[in-house]
Amino acid sequence: MAEILGGFFSSHVPAIGGAIARKAQAEPYWSPFFDAWPPVREWLGKVKPTTIVAFYNDHGLNFFLDKMPTFAVGAAPSYANADEGWGLPLFPTVQGHPELSWHIIEQLVEDEFDITTCQEMLCDHALSIPMVLAWPDHAPAPVRVVPITINTVQHPLPSAKRCLALGRSVAKALANWGADERIVVMGTGGLSHQLDGERAGFMNPEYDAFCLDNLSKDPDALTRHSVHEIVELAGTQGVEILNWIAARGAMGQTASEVSRTYHIPISNTAASVLVLETEAGQRAGQAKETAAAA
Ligand code: DHB
Ligand code: FE
Repeated sequence: MAEILGGFFSSHVPAIGGAIARKAQAEPYWSPFFDAWPPVREWLGKVKPTTIVAFYNDHGLNFFLDKMPTFAVGAAPSYANADEGWGLPLFPTVQGHPELSWHIIEQLVEDEFDITTCQEMLCDHALSIPMVLAWPDHAPAPVRVVPITINTVQHPLPSAKRCLALGRSVAKALANWGADERIVVMGTGGLSHQLDGERAGFMNPEYDAFCLDNLSKDPDALTRHSVHEIVELAGTQGVEILNWIAARGAMGQTASEVSRTYHIPISNTAASVLVLETEAGQRAGQAKETAAAA
């Protein structure tokens, strides 16, 4: 039986990769961000996922402005990272799970999502950096990945409501996946940031707190704002919160907060790392603690 154990969510700034390469994790600028990760790794060690369903946006590595799918699902055996022009070392290739990808694709199409299916796909910093933060000592990470990308780059963008519904359709697919699978979802991007234009450098801790507070208990609250309102509230690139909203939808109904950090700024971005778990995740964690105490 497949179990959805929870999710982890993170900002995905390319400079994080540069800090890892320079071993700058303990520097005062970087430590508030990197210190968020030991609790994430401890939680992953408890729930022991076999599979990650990852929601993120591609930044021009795989899809450019000439061809921009609103939603794309990877169905490849593996996903390589490639040079995006940030001067970062290449990150490890992540292993795919084509059978589960196709199962999710079938459900999404049945639920009338007109997605793009990708049997070849590169992955950029939005997938590879959080994977390396979660499993720094593994190359490749000891999990298989289903990548799902959301267009947060070129308008018109999908609404928050549509992204939450997409995630919920994925949750439905995961709930009826017959094989033994321990699933954790991942959502990356955000929080508030704007990289260019008159408001470059814009961040909004109040809106970020609204998102963080509601993701666990009331994710529908995040769908009250239109995409244009989210641009106003979070900045032009802060719309990457759509990835978090979709990932939350894929966790199913109930979620409780395990850990949360929020720090301004990393590069131009309000950086946050959040872990939410489902009831199945809680049971898995408790079983591990009971076994350790026995
Ligand atoms: C930055 C943030 C991002 O989300 C991104 O994709 C690229 C750069 C930044 O703050 O520098
Ligand atoms: Fe980004």
